[in-house]
Order: sequence, then structure tokens, then C-alpha cells
Amino acid sequence: MNDSTPARQLKALDNAHHLHPFMVHPELRAHGPRIITRGEGVYIWDADGNRILDGMAGLWCVQLGYGVKELADAAYEALRTLPYYNTFFQTTTPYATRLAALLAEKTPPGMDEIFFGCSGSDANDSAIKLIWYYWNLQGKPGKKAIISRKLAYHGSTVAAASLSGLGFMQEIFDLPLPRFHHVEPPPYGYGYQQPGESDEAFAVRCVKAVEDKILELGPENVAAFVGEPVMGAGGLMIPPDGYWPAIEKLCRKYDILLWSDEVICGFGRLGQWFGCQHYGVTPDIITMAKGMSSGYQPISAVALNQRVGEPITSAKTEMAHGYTYSGHPVACAVAIRNIELLESSGLIGSKGREKAEYFQQRLAEIADHPLVGETRGVGLLGALELVKDKQKRQRYKPEGHAGLVCRGHCFEQGLVMRAVRDTMFLSPPLVISESEIDELFSLVCRCLDLTLHDLQKG
Ligand SMILES: Cc1ncc(COP(=O)(O)O)c(C=O)c1O
Repeated sequence: MNDSTPARQLKALDNAHHLHPFMVHPELRAHGPRIITRGEGVYIWDADGNRILDGMAGLWCVQLGYGVKELADAAYEALRTLPYYNTFFQTTTPYATRLAALLAEKTPPGMDEIFFGCSGSDANDSAIKLIWYYWNLQGKPGKKAIISRKLAYHGSTVAAASLSGLGFMQEIFDLPLPRFHHVEPPPYGYGYQQPGESDEAFAVRCVKAVEDKILELGPENVAAFVGEPVMGAGGLMIPPDGYWPAIEKLCRKYDILLWSDEVICGFGRLGQWFGCQHYGVTPDIITMAKGMSSGYQPISAVALNQRVGEPITSAKTEMAHGYTYSGHPVACAVAIRNIELLESSGLIGSKGREKAEYFQQRLAEIADHPLVGETRGVGLLGALELVKDKQKRQRYKPEGHAGLVCRGHCFEQGLVMRAVRDTMFLSPPLVISESEIDELFSLVCRCLDLTLHDLQKG
């Protein structure tokens, strides 16, 4: 956009009219938003001309980085050819059809039915409805409960927020709705593992919590278990070895659908097309968004395996669900090109794996910093726990303050790192180079030093 409106005026307009997602508005409006004006590679620029290394790939989504001409060209070509047509009323477009076929190829074998939406949240809403519809078609209308985990994030529509396990985004809206259940502990070792408890024993305890919930509700009432392969926005929690295969076994034992929310973990974030492949499990349902188009277009999808898909595609009743923009041609064109580029670049494969190894090695080095209680990561995901006392895992008070101080320093120093409570996250574009990884971690170290200095000052 060639907008010459001065930054001060934009801030005033924004303060006057723009309700931001997940925002304490008085805090925002006290000084106005930072205005991001352009991006190139792994960098973004703000309206004051500052260059910022985007360690979060936007919101975990810009896999191919900013300024990819091929993606812009794909959008332009579709805009000129067919800017819109729907996929209702027995019509389709070459874009939607080709993308559905491509996703069926990339998802685990047998996941052949693809439904399109525009966001991770609406994909999850769609999955919930399709799961309920499936069990109705099976003549088991009692199976409606969905089991999720405390600290999960699955989106913010009414249903997706109910699915999420974060109280702060539910209480103010009188959520969750009935039918949604959250188990504790989630597989978050740093937060929940007891002193002396092995990873193996912790995995068993996390899985047992799911089994206890299934038995409490009655397996005949449970429709599905949903989980992010690595829990993202709730705190970047990496499951202990054995967790996912044990969950899969449990779902099969009690005839419960296994649903992998791949909105963050899909499209190479963990090194494979989908996070479930990294953990060696085969879900019945996958939801995806974000990296599907590298964030260049709002698009999402639900993939169903034959077990769930076949009864739906052979039902004589109408599957009365869909969106005006399901399979939007421009979004599909961009997603197709994005998937082709992810493939041809080798980012999902050996090149991506080497890069992830280097990223993880640099991340692990930071564990020695006096402010860091733990580092953990997988693929191109990384987290740091900020603590006052490493041995006792004691936090600075009030909880969340250290994270905010650190996030502020990051922005000032030209780095985007996200803070949730006192956990800092990294999820850079997959195209980040080794020298950019070096730059990223030297910025992280500088920001940790500045944060420690501030916290020690009190
Ligand atoms: C795992 C997961 N599911 C769903 C969503 C919601 O996606 P969206 O913000 O596109 O609605 C997110 C967003 O961060 C997510 O991380």
C-alpha cells in the first residue's frame, strides 16, 4: 500500500476506531499501536523506519517469509481470472479442486476429504460440527463430548474458545459451552512435572488424566479428543516421549475420534508436513490454517479420513454447513503455490531438518543465562522460561511481568518474540538462514540481559 498518511495521524485514527484482538484497550490507547508497514524475508519495518527481525513469523504463519513474489503473482493471476466464485450449488473452481487434491496428498494416507474455511477458528468450528454429524450418522447421537486440555488454544469463535483451555478467554464471555471438557495436567513438563518425576511417568500421568475423563463422562458420550501436536499459544508445551502414541491407543480403545489441530504445527513447523507425522500418530481429523498460505491469504481446511469422511459423503441428507468463502479461488491459488514452494525449497525435508538442528543448538545455549529456567524446542519452535531462581523454578512477581518486560526490550532492540505469562516464544519463518539465526539469538541474549537488569533493579 502506498499510504503517505503520517504515522501520528494513523495512530490517532486507530485509537479512535480500531478494536484490536486480545487487547487491553486503555493500555494500547495510552500510546497507540506500532504500525508495521512492510516486510521482506524475515524482517518487517515499522512506520518509524525500524527494521525488526520477526522471530514469530507473524502469528506463527509466515513460513516462506515476507515479500515472496511467486505468492503475490499467484494471487494476482487468480484475481484477474476468477476473483470469486463459491463452491456451493454443485460448483467448484480449478483452484479449490486442485488444492483439495494437493492436501489429500500431503496429509497422512486416507485423509481424502477436505473442507475449506478462512481461519483456524472456523476450521475448528467446522470440525466440531462434522464430528457431531458423523456420530449422528453412526446412530450414536450420545457421543457429543469433546475432550481438550487445560492451556490449549484452538481459536476464539464461540466453539473454538470453548474448545480452548484458557480461562481468561472464557470467563468474560461465560464460556465454555457445555460438551467441552478440559483435562489437567496438559503435557507441560516445566509447569506440571513433579520433582523427581521421570518424563515417562509424567507422560503416563497426562494420559491417565484423559482416560479418567473418558471414564467419568462415559465412553458412549465422548465424540473426540483434540490436541495440538505441540501446544502453542498457551505456552509452547512439548509433549514427553510416548504421550501421543498412548493418546492414540486410548482413542482407539474407547472408540473416540482423534483430532489433531495443526494450525501451528502444520506445513513444516516441526519438520514434516504435519505435526502428527513427527509424533508418529494417525488422526481421524486434521485442522489446518496459518502456514497453509504462509499467511498471505486467510484460508483453512479440515481434512477427514475415510472413517469419518465416507459416511458424510454417502449420506443422503444435506451437509448443511459452509461459508461464502469456502474454497475462495484467490486464497486457494496462493495456498497451492505456497505448498509447491515449500516442497521445491526443501524446507520440509533435509534442508529444513539441518536448519532446525542449528536453531535448536543455538536455543539450547541460552539455557545458561541466569534469567532462563529452561529452554525447549522442536523444529523451528523454541521457548524460554524466565525465572528468578532456576533451582526452585521460582518466578518474578507478579507472574507475567518478566515476560512483558522482555517483550518490550525485544521490540526496542528490533526483534519480535512473543510472551505468554513468563514464557517467551520463537517461531521464525522457515526460510530463516543460519546467519539470521545467529542474529536472532544475539538479539535474544541482549534482550535477556536488559530484562534481567530491569528486574533486578525492581
Ligand atoms: C492451534 C491453533 N488452533 C486454532 C487457532 C485459531 O486460528 P485463527 O486465529 O486463524 O482463527 C490458532 C491460532 O493461533 C492456533 O494456534
